[in-house]
Amino acid sequence: MAHKNTTVVGHPLVQHKLSIMRDISTPTAKFRQLLREISLLLAYEVCSDLETEQVDIKTPLETAKMPKLEGKKLCFISILRAGNGLLDGMLDLVPSARVGHVGLYRDPKTLIPIEYYLKLPDQLEERLSIVVDPMLATGNSAAAAVQRIKDAGAKRIKFVCLLAAPEGLEAFSEQHPDVPIITAAVDRELNDHAYILPGLGDAGDRMYGTK
Ligand code: URA
Repeated sequence: MAHKNTTVVGHPLVQHKLSIMRDISTPTAKFRQLLREISLLLAYEVCSDLETEQVDIKTPLETAKMPKLEGKKLCFISILRAGNGLLDGMLDLVPSARVGHVGLYRDPKTLIPIEYYLKLPDQLEERLSIVVDPMLATGNSAAAAVQRIKDAGAKRIKFVCLLAAPEGLEAFSEQHPDVPIITAAVDRELNDHAYILPGLGDAGDRMYGTK
């Protein structure tokens, strides 16, 4: 069951491409290409409520008021490393967006996410921050990353992923009820190693051909 904060993008193109990504026989280059294509469609959805203002545009025939995006440029923030696969396609659609990166690893003993990299654009308080990571599994690292971004001043944040587990949606929304989640699918559950079932495996490994 989807959480009330969650939008599932059920568009047939998204679902078709996602099914091919899930297939174990889909090679790395094809996987990356599909992720890039889906990220365009997810970006279209996540940007659907951006505010516009009427500005004068001089066409070859006359000057008329036309809508343009209002306010500070929005900001995409990738959770390393798999977030970069979603980021690339989103930047194709919004090339002027600012970009931030958050790197976290999980301490094997305490399981607490530890930050190893953080670089964020300035004036976050005036921007919409769109945080991207393909897999929302336990939700712990996404929630920790969003907390860092809030601590840096962001007031308006959305989270975009490709696949979410119900457990991750629950944990993330409990910590960040103010952050809407946009995903292509909500899968059944997590396995004992915190992988999403049926899922697509390790998104970073499938994108970059590592193991
Ligand atoms: N991260 C992944 O890449 N895959 C999962 O199934 C869960 C977390």
